[in-house]
Amino acid sequence: MEIIYHGHSCVQLSNQNQSIIIDPFLTGNPLAKTKARDIQVQYVLLTHAHGDHMADAASIAQNNQATIIATFELATYLSWQGLTTHAMNIGGAYQFDFGQVKMTQAFHSSSIVLEDQKQILYMGMPGGYLITMGGKTVYHAGDTSLFTDMKWLGEQHDISVAFLPIGDNLTMGPEDAAVAAEWLKADVTVPIHYNTFPVIQQNTDEFMQLLGARQKKGAALKPGETITI
Ligand code: NI
Ligand code: MN
Repeated sequence: MEIIYHGHSCVQLSNQNQSIIIDPFLTGNPLAKTKARDIQVQYVLLTHAHGDHMADAASIAQNNQATIIATFELATYLSWQGLTTHAMNIGGAYQFDFGQVKMTQAFHSSSIVLEDQKQILYMGMPGGYLITMGGKTVYHAGDTSLFTDMKWLGEQHDISVAFLPIGDNLTMGPEDAAVAAEWLKADVTVPIHYNTFPVIQQNTDEFMQLLGARQKKGAALKPGETITI
């Protein structure tokens, strides 16, 4: 499996001729190295409805005739815009042509803010994903706090790479993410959801040290960087 980190929480996974993207936020992300129009995928997975996770979901889905995978409320809302969607919910797994997807819980919120109308549309629960492609399992936590069931996820699944938010303020911070890494027992932990905005500035060297203190391996990928597992 080839993994490209596109910055913030956006991760693209490819195996053979299949490719999926999680939480596309390229347009409006000053750190992103890729343009949304250059993304070629068959599926777009959304952890929740916040703009920094689905800014480019509709355009990428339209350009590629891709299917959007999201929680029931968000999938329904996007289907009303003419997009092809596959609704899931927490704890559910489904076998897609590219591999298996299991939606995991996340402690956060999920909403679309209509600034003009001063309205907030709640889009059901936020989530994370366990994705198994080409025999390897990747965990994308979405936006979440630390939760003790991560220990159980680590016991039940053989996770190769865990993508964990470290930005703090809106999600867990580096200390909690290092605990999460230990519980999830992933071979490699990749920090996400940091440095994009002033309130989520973090030092990745310090996070790598926190992981090292718990005998965990980390890889701070730069936007545009690829790893193969
Ligand atoms: Ni969020
Ligand atoms: Mn976010």
